[in-house]
Amino acid sequence: MMAFPIDRSNGPLTVLGLETSCDETAAAVVRRFADGRVEVLSSIVASQTEHHAPFGGVVPELAARAHVEIIDQIAAEALAAAQTGFEHLHGVAATAGPGLVGGVMVGLSFAKAVALARGLPLVAVNHLEGHALSARLAAEAPYPFLLLLVSGGHCQLLEVEGVGACRRLGSTIDDAAGEAFDKIAKTLGLGYPGGPALERLAAQGDASRFVLPRALLGREGYDFSFSGLKTAAARLAEAEARTDQDRADLAAAVQAAIARQLAERADRAMAAYARRHGRRLFVVAGGVAANRTVRATLEATAAARGFGFLAPPLAYCTDNAAMIALAGAERLAHGLTSELNAAARPRWPLDEAAALADPTHKPGRKGAKA
Ligand code: KG4
Ligand code: ZN
Repeated sequence: MMAFPIDRSNGPLTVLGLETSCDETAAAVVRRFADGRVEVLSSIVASQTEHHAPFGGVVPELAARAHVEIIDQIAAEALAAAQTGFEHLHGVAATAGPGLVGGVMVGLSFAKAVALARGLPLVAVNHLEGHALSARLAAEAPYPFLLLLVSGGHCQLLEVEGVGACRRLGSTIDDAAGEAFDKIAKTLGLGYPGGPALERLAAQGDASRFVLPRALLGREGYDFSFSGLKTAAARLAEAEARTDQDRADLAAAVQAAIARQLAERADRAMAAYARRHGRRLFVVAGGVAANRTVRATLEATAAARGFGFLAPPLAYCTDNAAMIALAGAERLAHGLTSELNAAARPRWPLDEAAALADPTHKPGRKGAKA
């Protein structure tokens, strides 16, 4: 970490953020005021879905190449939409991991070039920290809070004390929730990305028709498991899903089962969190937080525990650069900047201490999305 002589006492910090860790090339400009208020001046996301759809998942080499081709244009669009120039920035932030390393290097190298050319501080941001702070882009989410981070590569419960201060309570022992959505969607013959497609199909279905296993029900701790559900759903898809209605019913049952497990584990964590902290704010973030059934189930669970509930607007649930710019701005406000030789990290657990202490949680799982 490098110390930059930034006057943090009063003025707002304007930061350009870049996100290239998976299949979205994104750039955003975010302004953070000294009192913690946040303004998103622009947020541009270029999805590569059509590059990867024929392959049923993200192809790392294609992703890296597509990021290289478009990153300059997307950054320029973000600055133009924010009516800002490089000369108005106080820093530049980029995702440095975890993720597909070829892509991460594109955004990080771009940020380093801007930092060097403009004499700006660089902030190498952990993508998961971006998700962790994403609710703060659109609402007041005062620290500390209990966070459920559910994306394509991750499924974790975390206590968030502040930027750079997260403690992991538990995580998945096999697939991430988004990964389960994507894989089961594939067995139902739905295209990539599977989560949103499964949600659309589930809207026509009856969730009560198929009975699916309830993993880890009542088990101590805060871990998750989706592999049993995935196997059961695949078997049902093969044996019983003959008509469109069968497939819709199965999709609805799967969605309900994932939401139920997330809610059960979150409920345990909320009970313990309230005892320990006396604070009652629950935040859900990550791509799976875009799922309406998941959101509604978690909101009801939080309400029953007397917790406030926050989820980012849909555009900030899935990968975006506004959350990276915000994490960058918060770090900058604390004088936490990076060296220009900061490395791209394919694996980078948010809470390294917990990850190392508990080897059953493979640190920074590297799924299709991380
Ligand atoms: O946060 P994200 O964009 O990328 C990372 O994994 O970091 O999350 C993508 C994941 C994918 O697995 C996608 O299928 C899932 O979030 N997802 C959804 C929905 N929208 C995105 N899953 C269920 N329902 C949705 N509406
Ligand atoms: Zn993500």
